[in-house]
Amino acid sequence: MGIIIIIVTVIAVVVIGSIVMIFIKKLRKAGLMIFGSLIIIFIVVWDLFFKPKQYEKTYLQNVSEWKGLNIRQYADSIVFYIGAIPGGTEIGDPLFSNNFNSVTPENALKMGPLFKGGSIGEYDFSSADKLVDQALAKNLRVRGHTLVWGKQSDMFKNPDLRKWLETFPKEERTMQLKELTDSHIVTVLNHFRGRIKTWDCVNEPTSFIKKGEIEHNVYSEYLGENYIAEAFILAHSVDSSLKLFLNEQITNYNDKQADSFAELVRNLKNSNVPINGVGIQSHILTKTDTAIIDHQNYIKIFTDMGLEVEITELDIRLRIFDAAKDPYDAQGRYYSRLIEACIANPLCKGVTFWGFSDDKCWIDNYPFPKPNEPYFFDPEMKPKPAFYEVYKTLKYSFESRTRK
Ligand code: XIL
Repeated sequence: MGIIIIIVTVIAVVVIGSIVMIFIKKLRKAGLMIFGSLIIIFIVVWDLFFKPKQYEKTYLQNVSEWKGLNIRQYADSIVFYIGAIPGGTEIGDPLFSNNFNSVTPENALKMGPLFKGGSIGEYDFSSADKLVDQALAKNLRVRGHTLVWGKQSDMFKNPDLRKWLETFPKEERTMQLKELTDSHIVTVLNHFRGRIKTWDCVNEPTSFIKKGEIEHNVYSEYLGENYIAEAFILAHSVDSSLKLFLNEQITNYNDKQADSFAELVRNLKNSNVPINGVGIQSHILTKTDTAIIDHQNYIKIFTDMGLEVEITELDIRLRIFDAAKDPYDAQGRYYSRLIEACIANPLCKGVTFWGFSDDKCWIDNYPFPKPNEPYFFDPEMKPKPAFYEVYKTLKYSFESRTRK
């Protein structure tokens, strides 16, 4: 609120001052005044919103007690997936395999990275195989992410399927894209048969810009909106034992995009499309007071349809808690409440963090003011309250089940 008052006041001073100046024909002074005020606004906004902040790490006093704890044993006992994305080497680290029982490769299974040297339709599975086999050797479940992802396969992305299609005559493009998409689904599923049993079959199908609509992308443009159903039908025909998920990022669980995604899932179910689950990404980037109850209600919409749900890409930025006495503690408690909400629904099967240690965080590359620091471990691999709170939640959940 304070910032809004400051900005409105500065703007009012500039506008009124400039009008007066212009009126008395002091144009140069008016220009200087506008310029000066813009600089002031920039400094205030930078300081309040964008300047990286640091918070006191009081949790460091407790880390020696937390270090030997093991989250995974409780997750395994209650048959709940607790997952993370590893860089690669981390999978061998006991800190990873003692705390997680599920892995989602961050990029290795996406279409672009699977194409050999970027050549469309030619495959190099070596890095993906290495990661998947390392995970399986540690008895971790692997989530396959993802077969068909329009946002990542369009202009200037990897792969740029639109540019590739332009190398064909117009009338051939639909056929070319259909062949590539189908052969990609079949090739990848056959390659990982028996090793990856859960796939995000289609990722991010709804638009968050044109809320209420299916995302306009290269697939919907050339194959029609039915590309989503067709991907599920084909994947199921390759291996009917697979769990096929539709994965989506929802920022506001009460808006038109949230409704359109639920409607899409309902239509797929009603048309007997073989969909088994819904992935809710849960990148929580801005403040929302009702995120936990909103998650709970939103998850229920899908579990009421008989579908499984997983929270697939969880990260809650530390910066969101900057009004709290101890932001690290507040972040940890928030995670534990969110995980409790998932566990409370028998069809909500797991939660995956989109990262492992704060040393490497995908949103650090985006223009979000730091600190993001959303994970269990800090850059020095010290466990944070997020780790301890999730440990307590899973332990409590295990103990209350065994007591019954
Ligand atoms: C992100 C990765 O973390 C980045 O490394 C990559 O450059 C872009 O993709 N939703 C998704 C994930 O479904 O695949 C995205 O992962 C994050 C948003």
